[in-house]
Amino acid sequence: MRSFLYLTTALIPQIAFAAPPSGAEQRAAETEARMTPEERVILTSGIIPFAFTPNAKVPEDAVTGSGYVGGVPRLGVPSLKETDASLGVAYMMGARNDGGATPLPSGLAMGSTWNPALIRAGGKTIGGEAKAKGFNVMLAGGINLLFDPRNGRTFEYFSEDPLLSGILGGEAVAGIQSNNMISTVKHFAFNGQESARQYIDARVSEANGREGELLSFQIAIERGNPGAVMCAYNKVNGHYACDSDWLLNKVLKRDWRYKGFVMSDWGAVPSTSAALNGLDQQSGAQLDKQPWLGAPLGQEASRNPAYAERVKDMNRRILYSIYAHGLDKDPPVKKKIDVEAGLAVAESVAREGIVLLRNERGALPLAASAKRIAVIGNYADTGVLSGGGSSQVQMDGGPAATVSLGGSGLTAGFINETYHRSVPLNAIKERAKGATVSFARSNYLAEAVAAAKGADVAIIFAYEWRTEGVDSPDLSLPRGQDAVIAAVAEANPNTIVVLQTGGPVLMPWLDKTAAVVEAWYPGGRGGQAIASVLFGETNPSGRLPVTFPASTADLPRPNIDGWTPGGDSLDPSAPRPTTDVRANYDVEGSDLGYRWYAREGKKTLFPFGYGLSYTSFARSGLKTDGKTASFTVKNTGARTGADVAQLYLVSAAGTAKRRLVGFQKLTLEPGKSGTARLTIDPRLLASWDQDGWFIKGGEYRFAIGADAQTLGETVSVKLPMRRWKD
Ligand code: BGC
Repeated sequence: MRSFLYLTTALIPQIAFAAPPSGAEQRAAETEARMTPEERVILTSGIIPFAFTPNAKVPEDAVTGSGYVGGVPRLGVPSLKETDASLGVAYMMGARNDGGATPLPSGLAMGSTWNPALIRAGGKTIGGEAKAKGFNVMLAGGINLLFDPRNGRTFEYFSEDPLLSGILGGEAVAGIQSNNMISTVKHFAFNGQESARQYIDARVSEANGREGELLSFQIAIERGNPGAVMCAYNKVNGHYACDSDWLLNKVLKRDWRYKGFVMSDWGAVPSTSAALNGLDQQSGAQLDKQPWLGAPLGQEASRNPAYAERVKDMNRRILYSIYAHGLDKDPPVKKKIDVEAGLAVAESVAREGIVLLRNERGALPLAASAKRIAVIGNYADTGVLSGGGSSQVQMDGGPAATVSLGGSGLTAGFINETYHRSVPLNAIKERAKGATVSFARSNYLAEAVAAAKGADVAIIFAYEWRTEGVDSPDLSLPRGQDAVIAAVAEANPNTIVVLQTGGPVLMPWLDKTAAVVEAWYPGGRGGQAIASVLFGETNPSGRLPVTFPASTADLPRPNIDGWTPGGDSLDPSAPRPTTDVRANYDVEGSDLGYRWYAREGKKTLFPFGYGLSYTSFARSGLKTDGKTASFTVKNTGARTGADVAQLYLVSAAGTAKRRLVGFQKLTLEPGKSGTARLTIDPRLLASWDQDGWFIKGGEYRFAIGADAQTLGETVSVKLPMRRWKD
C-alpha cells in the first residue's frame, strides 16, 4: 500500500486576501442540519481511490489521484477529488491516462524567486490543470520551514524563513484556489525531517513554535485563505500532530480563528479521539490501522455528546470550505490542458529561481569568443532532474529518463531519479551559434578531464536527487561527483558548474571554478532556463531562500535524529519503536537557518538572501518608523536586472537579532533607481510571551541587507512596549 504514496503529486498558487463569500458559514450550518446521522460521517473520512486488492471498490465518480472523500448528492454536496501537490498535478504513473501536467520548478526554486506574483501565477496554472483533470482539491502549499538542510523534502518547501515561506505559500494557495477549488497548507506542523517521520517527536516550546514555523503557517493562512490544513505525520511535544489539541484546537482554530477544516496526512491518524483534538477529516484511510473516523466516529457520536458536537462542527467546517471556494457552483469539467501556457509559466519561475552563486572574471554570461564549449555530465543531454515522492509530476509521455536506485518490492518502482524532457545540451547548442559544443559523460574522470582540457569553457552538470521519505546523510554531491568537478576545474580554469540539487550542498571544489549556477530542480522547461542564464538572455535574479552551511558540524543538530543507513519512512504502517525518537527544535528555537548562523557567529558557504547578477546594485536611504520602511535601490551596472531589496531586524531592545522583516523584488534598467516600500509585520519584532505577542519597549535597529550576512545602512527607532493577542 505504501507505494501509493509515490503515485501522487501536486500543485500551486496566486494572490489576494480573498474574503470568502459571505453566507458560506450560514449555508454550511443549514446543510449540516439537514443531514441524517449516516450522512454526517461521510465527509469525515477519505480513501485513496485506488484498488489495492482485486475486490476493492473505487467509487464511480472518483478520479485516479491521491484522495477521495464521498459527497452527499441528496444535499448537493460534491465529493472531494484530491490530487498532489505543490509542484503540479501528480502523474500517477500514467494510471489516469490523461497525459502529463506542468512540472513547476522545485519549491526552493520558487522560494529563490522572492516573487509573490509569479508564485501566484504558478499556483493558478497548476490549479487550472488539476481542475481540467477532474480534481477539486489540491494537496499543495508545502510550507514547512527548513529545520534541516538534509531533509528529503527540502526541494518541496520554499525556505527557512517564516515571512518568505508564509508569503509565497499564501500566494501559491491563493493562485490554486482562484480556480474555485480548495488547497491546503501542509504539513502542520514541525515536519522538519523525513527520517522516522511517522513517529519522531518534535520538541519545541510554545514561544519558539509561534515565532518560528507556526508564524509561517499563520501568514500563509492569512494571505492564502486555504480551505484545508493538512496535519503532519510526526508527533509534537508528545502528541501526534493530527491528535494535538494544542496545534489544532488552540493555535489554529481558537487563536487564528481558522474556519476551514483539518485533513490528516495519509496514514497519520492515531485514533478516533483525534476528532476531539481538532482533526476534521481522515485522509487515505487504508493507510491507517483502521478507519478511525467515518463509521466509528458515528458510533461514538450516537452515545457521546462531545463527539456529536464535534461531528456537527467537522461537517460545518468542511462544508464551509466547499461553499466558500465555490466547489458546488463550479465543478471540474475535464478538458485538455494548455501545455504550452503551463510550460511558459514554469520557465518564468525557473529563470527567476536560478541563483548565480559565483562568477569570477566575468565568466558568465558566456562570451561570444568561446568557440569550443565542452558540456560535461550525465543527463545534460537528456533532461533536467526532479524530486521524488508524492510531489512528482511528469510531462506528457512521462520522464525523459528514469534511473532506478534498485531495490525490490512495492516502493522500488518509485525510488527513481527522473528527468524531465527539457535538454540543457540542446538549449545550449541553440544559443551557441558559431561555437562547437561537445558533450561528454562524467562516469569516467579521464573522459571528463579530456573533454574539459580541449575547450575554451567547460560546463559541468552535477546532481543531487532527493525524495520524500528519505533524508540525505550529509550535504555532499553523491556518486563521486565532487572528485569529477575538482578534476575538471583543475584541467580547465574556465569551468562553470551547473547544480541541480534538492537543497544546499557543500562545494569543496568551489575556489577552483570560474562560476557556479544553482538551478535547483528547474521544472519542465529547466534546460531552456539554464541556458538562458548561461548566455545572458536572463540576468539572474534568484536569491537563496536557504543558507548553504560550511559544514554539517555547524547545524543545530549535526546528526539527524532517527536516521538509519538505508532507512526510509515510506510506510505509514511500519512498526514504531517502543521508545520516543525526538528532534529537539529548541536548540535553535525560532532562530532557524540564517538566524542561527548569525546568533552563533558561524560562517556559511553562502548566506540566505545571497545571489549574484550580471549587473550591480547600490542600496541606500533607509527610512523607517518600525511600521513601514523604504530605501532606494540603484542599478549601477550596464544591464537591466532585478534586485531583491531585503530589510533585516538586527537588534531588538538591546538583544542582537537577525530577522528578515521585509523584501521586494525590483527590476531596474541601468542607471535607474527604484524605491522599496515595505510594511513590517509587528510579529517579526516581537517575542511570544505566555499567551500573546510582546514587544519590549526600547531601541530597534534595522539594516538593509544584500543578503542576511552582508548588511548595509542601519537605522534605529524607539518602539514603545506593546502586548497583543493574535
Ligand atoms: C505526503 C503528503 C501527500 C500525501 C498524499 C503523504 O505521504 O506526506 O504530502 O499530500 O501523501 O499523497
